[in-house]
Amino acid sequence: MAKDKSLFVCSECGGTSPKWLGKCPSCGAWNTLIEQVAGSNAPANNRFGTQFSPLAGVSELATLSEIEATDIARTPTGIDELDRVLGGGIVSGGVTLIGGDPGIGKSTLLLQAVDALQRAGQNALYVTGEESGAQVALRSRRLGLDHSQVQVLAEIQLEKIIATLDATRPAIAVIDSIQTVYSDQLTSAPGSVAQVRECAAHLTRFAKTSGTAVVLVGHVTKEGALAGPRVLEHMVDTVLYFEGDTHSSFRLVRAIKNRFGAVNEIGVFAMTERGLKGVANPSAIFLSQHAEPVPGSVVLVTLEGTRPMLVEIQALVDNGGPSPRRLSVGLDRDRLAMLLAVLHRHAGVACMDQDVFVNAVGGVRISEPAADLAVMLAITSSLRGKPLPKGFIAFGEVGLAGEVRPAPRGQERLREAAKLGFSIAVVPKANAPRKGSKEIEGLTIHPVERIEEAMDVVRRLD
Ligand code: TYD
Ligand code: MG
Repeated sequence: MAKDKSLFVCSECGGTSPKWLGKCPSCGAWNTLIEQVAGSNAPANNRFGTQFSPLAGVSELATLSEIEATDIARTPTGIDELDRVLGGGIVSGGVTLIGGDPGIGKSTLLLQAVDALQRAGQNALYVTGEESGAQVALRSRRLGLDHSQVQVLAEIQLEKIIATLDATRPAIAVIDSIQTVYSDQLTSAPGSVAQVRECAAHLTRFAKTSGTAVVLVGHVTKEGALAGPRVLEHMVDTVLYFEGDTHSSFRLVRAIKNRFGAVNEIGVFAMTERGLKGVANPSAIFLSQHAEPVPGSVVLVTLEGTRPMLVEIQALVDNGGPSPRRLSVGLDRDRLAMLLAVLHRHAGVACMDQDVFVNAVGGVRISEPAADLAVMLAITSSLRGKPLPKGFIAFGEVGLAGEVRPAPRGQERLREAAKLGFSIAVVPKANAPRKGSKEIEGLTIHPVERIEEAMDVVRRLD
């Protein structure tokens, strides 16, 4: 390997060293030296005095109105749920990063997508670094894609991948995964921060200059972040994450960044014997089927992207030891601590000596504060050992002062719940239909303005 071409640059002060050191020789910070190719756009001299070249010309400027704003052309992948998260389809020259736990279905989805594109006449190249060509072929047979014309390249060296891409110029190229690719220019191991960053930068540059749409598959660490640098997320145009419980068959693909479309749109899939199938009407998939209502369970109507979905929130409150635990799956733990404090202060519900566990069923992650009311009602229900009535739903944000705030697009949520046969709703006052306006058929709505009021309503329903 060409050792002399690389340089280690401190991410704190920009100081450099020809070899790796634990401590930066310039500023003394630890573990900040990251390998870079010498001569690449390293931040080496930038932060403390850019070195100007007298030969560099001045670039031409244009005003915004002079620049032609063309609509971005998108090619639909033919997989509706994937197109929905992408904002309509793949964009020529666009770079997409797709992350998710191992075994969740990244390779499956992308293989299905590139095959559909290939059948639609778009040349597709699938670069596999994790599996052999034979393994990819085996998967394609399993998916029923027996006559797939997708080209496969089993290669992990960046320079060879780029040379092949340059020679074949496919419309779309999948790199599965970016962590397996390495560049000759760096001495660091494949998967290291330096390698992942450098390889992604080269592939991005290639996408922009050639017009090939590039999809990078990225691994997720135990903490849930894309392994290697978060910097990848800044470099690419679109970031998609796979969510879901690998034990259940449903998978969500969520856009967390999209330069070409809306974020927080989700695609819903079911993993079947023959790959991932889109679920066009996902509103009821995250409900578990209880024959009779059980304590600690509340159905939340959440709004994911453009579609309302019903998700069961479960809570278990049980005697804890001297330092009781607060655990949440699919919901924010800090928010849970806050909601417990609000419950105590404003509704007189004390869980100080209790363990509190909350869970959003089905491995779905809920980030919107409109889940607050459902979480608090589930906790109280478990603490009291009293189930909520059959057909009960709730949503609404709860503030530190105990006020219940409206959720966006409340009417749509209520209509979806009514459509699925739910009959009792506790919701923020501002989300309830106004007096005199049309009622939602089959749904008895209890509007509330404060958390105490919500507790009273529930007690009256016992
Ligand atoms: P995979 O796409 O290999 O996951 P990733 O690339 O994210 O690591 O998905 C592997 C899982 O999906 C594996 O457990 C088998 C399952 N699977 C199916 O259930 N049906 C199928 O048709 C395929 C191809 C995979
Ligand atoms: Mg894979």
